Amino acid sequence: MPSDPQYLETVRAGSLDGALYLEDDLSGLPALTRGAVLTALSRAFDLAENRRPGHAQRVAHIALSVAQELHLPSRQVEEAFFGGLLHDVGMASTIFTDPDQVSSLRPMSPYGADAERDGNTTHTHIAEAVATHCIAGARTARKLGLSEGVAAAIEQHHDRWSGFHLVQQTGRERGGWVSRIVAASDRLESMIDHDVSPLLVRRRGPELISEMSGIEIDPRIAEAMDRAARQDEFWLGLYDNEMHVQLMMVDSSDALPPGDLIDMLGVVSDVVDDRGNRPRGHGRRVADLSRVIAREHGMSEGRTALVEAAALLQDLGTLGVPVSLMRKPDILTVDEMAAMQMHPTYARDIVSELPGFGAVAWWIGCHHERIDGKGYPGMLEEEEVPVEAQIIGMAEVFIALTSERSYRPAMTAEDAMEVIRGLGSTRFDHRLLPGFEMALASLDLV
Ligand SMILES: [Fe+2]
Ligand SMILES: [Fe+2]
Ligand SMILES: [Fe+2]
Repeated sequence: MPSDPQYLETVRAGSLDGALYLEDDLSGLPALTRGAVLTALSRAFDLAENRRPGHAQRVAHIALSVAQELHLPSRQVEEAFFGGLLHDVGMASTIFTDPDQVSSLRPMSPYGADAERDGNTTHTHIAEAVATHCIAGARTARKLGLSEGVAAAIEQHHDRWSGFHLVQQTGRERGGWVSRIVAASDRLESMIDHDVSPLLVRRRGPELISEMSGIEIDPRIAEAMDRAARQDEFWLGLYDNEMHVQLMMVDSSDALPPGDLIDMLGVVSDVVDDRGNRPRGHGRRVADLSRVIAREHGMSEGRTALVEAAALLQDLGTLGVPVSLMRKPDILTVDEMAAMQMHPTYARDIVSELPGFGAVAWWIGCHHERIDGKGYPGMLEEEEVPVEAQIIGMAEVFIALTSERSYRPAMTAEDAMEVIRGLGSTRFDHRLLPGFEMALASLDLV
């Protein structure tokens, strides 16, 4: 929650020492399953949902426990897990202009009870917000290569068992098991989210579940949830700081081939573009150019693939920056600028949870550093700024300058190149310039 000083403090506690992120192996992209990647990146979706970090992972843990308790086939157990992780991924790409719309999207907001009062324009406005983020989330899940079962669960995660009046649909009519489990898990997590003491929450668990049974959630799911919530492992897992490690092992499919992993990160980058109001494909173009500059600079194929992955995720942290700032057509105030400048740190901390992505996380954290020490967040100087981060920054500046914006026309490639030459020795090391110019030529950008 970027506006919450306590949360900022937690994120800032991360050190600015690159040695902490050292990787032994920079020979290529690590072998990761789709589930492992999404477990880590789900923390970025929490930021967009304005939730306490780990919300999506906790919903996935609850959904997984309930699906197992119901002895569903393994395919559906995995779908419940993915549905939990991604239920609110649509929040990242849906632009809400009214803060009431966001708060109303909490599953347990009073709005549920108020929904019976028809004809209220606020409610119509809110219903639109519900529908929009559910549909956008399902679309993103399909692009990420997930099944229709997962997409349906995301689309239906605001359905209530006894009827969701405004959208004229009920969980009874629509949801399969997976959809109803994900909706129920999101509700339970949201209720316990506010309780400070895990012991207290554990004691109240059965009561909370029975209150929701038959109204908010399917009674058969409530029964299974109640059985799961009477076991120690359920609560130990829910409050385990290393929960992500367990969740990363849930996906039983093979590790993604490098091309598929890059495609998946491309979908995430599209979400970031949408939210930041950048031209579609901006992040992918920056990543393409970064990869080629890295190659022209003499890096190995494996390392250039890591640079490409870092470029795709560089602005992931902007999901934690309020949309009003991301899209502000005017100069930012000092406070707004400080909020915006948190984005490399958010992304670094999220990406560093991915095995084999330590160096990638460090480069991402440094993509706004400058060799003259005037960058952020660490004001690193000279060699302290990793070459990879400089390459990504350089590609980003070029692509941004040569793209049209609402407040200015696109610059020509030659003019943009001149600007970047002018930044050699201040923002970037001038020794990167020859590789940069060769990369532009090899991509036919000049
Ligand atoms: Fe939602
Ligand atoms: Fe949620
Ligand atoms: Fe950035």
